[in-house]
Amino acid sequence: MTLLIWNHACTVGVRAMDDQHGIIMDCMNELRLAVMHGCGREQVGLLLERLIEFTRLHFSSEELLMERTAFPGLAEHRAEHQTILAQILQSVHRLQFGEKVEMRPLLCFLRDWYLRHIEGFDRQYGPWFNEHGVH
Ligand SMILES: [Fe+2]
Ligand SMILES: [Fe+2]
Repeated sequence: MTLLIWNHACTVGVRAMDDQHGIIMDCMNELRLAVMHGCGREQVGLLLERLIEFTRLHFSSEELLMERTAFPGLAEHRAEHQTILAQILQSVHRLQFGEKVEMRPLLCFLRDWYLRHIEGFDRQYGPWFNEHGVH
């Protein structure tokens, strides 16, 4: 699994959201390194929890901006956020309950949703937010 490198192609056109995406990416890279270095379940679990915590915060920030600007795609976007979180949480619970979780597929899943979500969903709100004074 390759490192996620932040570049301008990843921008959604809103500074604060770009910054948050960058932080999520850092969390994922850290998680990936921990797995590669053979860190234990406990440390991997903590990093996953941090990723979830921050992802939750980020999703709330986006949804709040969408509410404030009456973004037409809010419901669909929120549903997508909920699906992503539910899937990550499921893996964490399995990890906490001692089940074997294959970390590599989980990391690939996280990377894929991240890229797909930003490219497919987050990009859609950029022009709308800009038009409504959010940059
Ligand atoms: Fe996002
Ligand atoms: Fe989003």
